[in-house]
Amino acid sequence: MIKLHRVTKYYENKIPAINDINLNISKGDFVFITGPSGAGKSTLIKLIFSSEKPNSGEIVVNGKNITRMLPKEIPYFRRSVGVVFQDFRLIQNRSVYDNVAFPLDIIGTRIKLVKKKVWQVLKWVGLLQKKDSLPLQLSGGEQQRVAIARAIINNPILLLADEPSGNLDPKLSFEIMKLFKAINARGTTVVIATHDKNTALNFSENIITLERGKLEG
Ligand SMILES: Nc1ncnc2c1ncn2[C@@H]1O[C@H](COP(=O)(O)OP(=O)(O)OP(=O)(O)O)[C@@H](O)[C@H]1O
Ligand SMILES: [Mg+2]
Repeated sequence: MIKLHRVTKYYENKIPAINDINLNISKGDFVFITGPSGAGKSTLIKLIFSSEKPNSGEIVVNGKNITRMLPKEIPYFRRSVGVVFQDFRLIQNRSVYDNVAFPLDIIGTRIKLVKKKVWQVLKWVGLLQKKDSLPLQLSGGEQQRVAIARAIINNPILLLADEPSGNLDPKLSFEIMKLFKAINARGTTVVIATHDKNTALNFSENIITLERGKLEG
């Protein structure tokens, strides 16, 4: 599903954020990327989502070499990849419904089908009763679930999440992890970056540890 071959990424400061990494993640895996602050977790997620390009090496996602992808190919690639950001990135002046419908709207899905899918996924994350609320009228955990609903509405084959429980209390964080597990059980490969090793250990045996841009172990 995801293959990294000798991938290096550095920003302006020339100290590699990701340093010559090889990595293999199989279809259906439920993987955590852990490591201390600054280890390169977010960078790795961004590389897999193609929002950053590596300076060297090759990244293949779902059989596609995304290192050689043209800019115009990126939106198509992302249709099969859902992403959840730590800060949710919801559209503040749009309702929960509109936020979740957004990925379907931009690909021109018929209104009737949009409605069906949005209702389904909002029901699934337990937020149908909040469909007309604005993001700021929701709790942190509810906003996080909206972000997850939006990320999975297209039935992505891969779901990436960067510190999805970073802003949540332990109980909510547990609920969110269970949601990711359920998404994984439906066949989606799930990759979660978190500094919280305990959560990772509780939910998966498949843990990748980064330390200063290198893989540990
Ligand atoms: N846009 C950027 N410009 C310059 N340097 C960056 C940029 N993004 C990240 N870095 C640097 O790359 C390194 C890895 O950052 P990254 O955000 O990937 O770490 P992280 O493991 O996600 O950390 P955290 O747990 O704090 O989120 C850090 O040294 C950081 O300062
Ligand atoms: Mg980070």
